Order: sequence, then structure tokens, then C-alpha cells
Amino acid sequence: MNKITAAITAVGAYVPDFVLSNQVLETMVDTNDEWITSRTGIKERRILKDADKGTSYLAIKAAEDLIAKANVDPSEIDLVLMATATPDMQVSATGAYVATQIGAVNAFAYDLQAACSSFLYGMSTAAAYIQSGRYKKVLLIGADKMSSIVDYTDRTTCIIFGDGAGAVLFEPNTEGLGLQDEYLRSDGVGRDFLKIDAGGSLHPTTIQTIEEKRHSIRQDGKTVFKYAVTNMADASEQILKRNNLTNEDVDFLVPHQANKRIIDATASRMNLEESKVLMNIERYGNTTSATLPLVLNDFEHLFKKGDTIIFAAFGGGFTWGSIYLKWAYDKK
Ligand code: UT7
Repeated sequence: MNKITAAITAVGAYVPDFVLSNQVLETMVDTNDEWITSRTGIKERRILKDADKGTSYLAIKAAEDLIAKANVDPSEIDLVLMATATPDMQVSATGAYVATQIGAVNAFAYDLQAACSSFLYGMSTAAAYIQSGRYKKVLLIGADKMSSIVDYTDRTTCIIFGDGAGAVLFEPNTEGLGLQDEYLRSDGVGRDFLKIDAGGSLHPTTIQTIEEKRHSIRQDGKTVFKYAVTNMADASEQILKRNNLTNEDVDFLVPHQANKRIIDATASRMNLEESKVLMNIERYGNTTSATLPLVLNDFEHLFKKGDTIIFAAFGGGFTWGSIYLKWAYDKK
């Protein structure tokens, strides 16, 4: 019998309608379109404005898009893996609510949190369940309502993040397609440089933590940038080396969309031509767990069965890595 590999067989996505442009941000904080564009590559991002909707709303929309497009029967889904850094609530698993709402009545569900690497790590987890033969349909959703943790008076973070969601279905494959290899890493040194300081078990919420505005995402951008450039490029180089791949063998790079300059550095280390480097950061900004599936959804029409795709991400923790995957279908 052929070895079972874990292939992506369907993609879906959702972004909210409201567009927050650089021009509007200019009226909110001391910044300008030229600075944001040249330093990050971002032009606009989407924001979920409804006060009564959380990350689950985005996730449900993305999952429903996938289910409709690929004609999936949700009752056949075995597991819903919810990659997110902004769960609806601190304790109740957002994935459980999402699974019920989309009709995945026979699935179990849980959340997976590794900041901007959540989706990349989720790919590894989903694939392991499939390769083991234990489950047949794993729905991996990456969704974040970053606007719920951004301080819109802090120009060093509010220009970067946006809201969005994407979903992929993993299923067994016997043609050798799907996830081929992964190189995943983490380093706890990162927790001082990119974090929400309070509201967790280390610094529970108090009136003082609220007054000190310690419940929003903060980063030492320069330090994060340095680690991100080095590690995302290293991981991508490693995955090529380990699999004896050259730049010619790679059809597409699907990188986390945090900063165009980080993506350019990774692509340059891999010696990739521009047309192979997929980006939509200019339209969505950094949507954390949603960046990779949003790229897959936007560029799905380019992928052909058998294409070699390299995924790369870097995020808080620090967490980072690279995944080598062979695309499993031609879009109908
Ligand atoms: O998803 C994974 C996690 N996040 C990341 O990967 C993000 C990594 N970091 C970055 O992308 C970049 O560091 C930023 C985009 C956040 C900042 O870019 P930078 O080139 O590292 O700028 P900087 O922090 O070194 O700041 C340069 C200057 C500073 O002014 P001075 O000190 O040189 O006078 C900042 O105060 O730019 C100033 N600045 C701004 N100016 C206009 C910082 N933010 C802004 C702003 N508009 N929004």
C-alpha cells in the first residue's frame, strides 16, 4: 500500500468589508502613507467593526466559504483546528463554537496558539493526524481579529495589523502529494519583544494593568524585525537543503505577511524570482494566523497539481519555521 501523505484539498477565506487605509491612519496617529508603504509594503487592512462579533465570526465565514466552494459535507469533518491569537474568550475554545456553527457535528475541536506561526504549526498538526491514519478530514482555520488587541494610538503597531480568516481542508493522499517536510523552531527569548503583557496568568487583569494600557499588543519592532529576517530566511534555506531542492524546483513561496522587507529578505536568500513570491500584504496587512491561508485563497488559481510550495512564517514567542508541500489539485 502507498504511504499516506496529508494534502490540502480545499481553500476558503473571508475578510470584513471595512477598509482601513493608510490615508485614514494618517488622521489617527502621526504617520504617513509613504512611511508605511516603504517600511512595510502595507496600503490598507480590513477591520471587523461590529462590536458584538469576535474571531469566531471571521472563522465561520472562511469555513463556510470553503464548504460551499468544495462542496464538503461538514458532518464528515473529524477535527476542526482553530489557529488564533485572538480567541473569542480566554477559556472557552473558539474552535468548538466554530465547529458547531458550521455543522461539523461529528468533529472535535480545539485552539492552537503560536502567534503569527499558529497556522504554520497547525499545518504540521493537521498533517500528523492525517498521516497517522487516525482521521480523514481535518479543517484547519487561521483567523484573527487583531483590531481587538491593537491600541489605535500606538503608531508602531496600529499600522501593521488587520483582521481576516482563511481555512484549508487536509485529507489523505496516496500519490505522494501534500506535506513533504517541515522545519519548525521556537525560542523563548522572544517573549519580551512581542507580547500582550497583561491579562494572562503571569499578570492578571487589574485596574492598574488597564490604566497602564498593558492589554494591547506591543512590540520592539526593530528586534523582532532582525530575528524575523534571519530566522525566516534560515528556515526556508534549511528546508530547501534538506530536500535537495534548488530555487528552480520551487514554484511558489507562501510567506507570512508581516512586512514586505522580511519577505524580500527570505526570497532573496532562496534566490527566488519575484513572480514566485506570493504577497497580498498591501491589501490586508498582518492578519497573524490568517496570512498563509489568505495567500493560498488569493492565488489558488495559479497552483497546479504537483507544484512545489514553500511556506514560511515567523511570530511571537518567538516561533518560526518552514514547510515544504506539494499542491494536490488543479482549480476547477
Ligand atoms: O508578524 C510577526 C511579528 N511582527 C513583525 O514581524 C514586525 C517586525 N518589525 C517591523 O516590521 C518593523 O520593525 C516596523 C514596521 C514595525 C518598524 O519599521 P522600522 O524600519 O524597524 O522602524 P523603526 O522602529 O526603526 O523606526 C524608525 C523611525 C523611528 O523614528 P526615529 O527614532 O528614527 O526618529 C520611529 O519613531 O520611524 C518612526 N516610526 C514611524 N514613523 C511614521 C515608527 N512608526 C512610525 C509610523 N509612522 N507608523
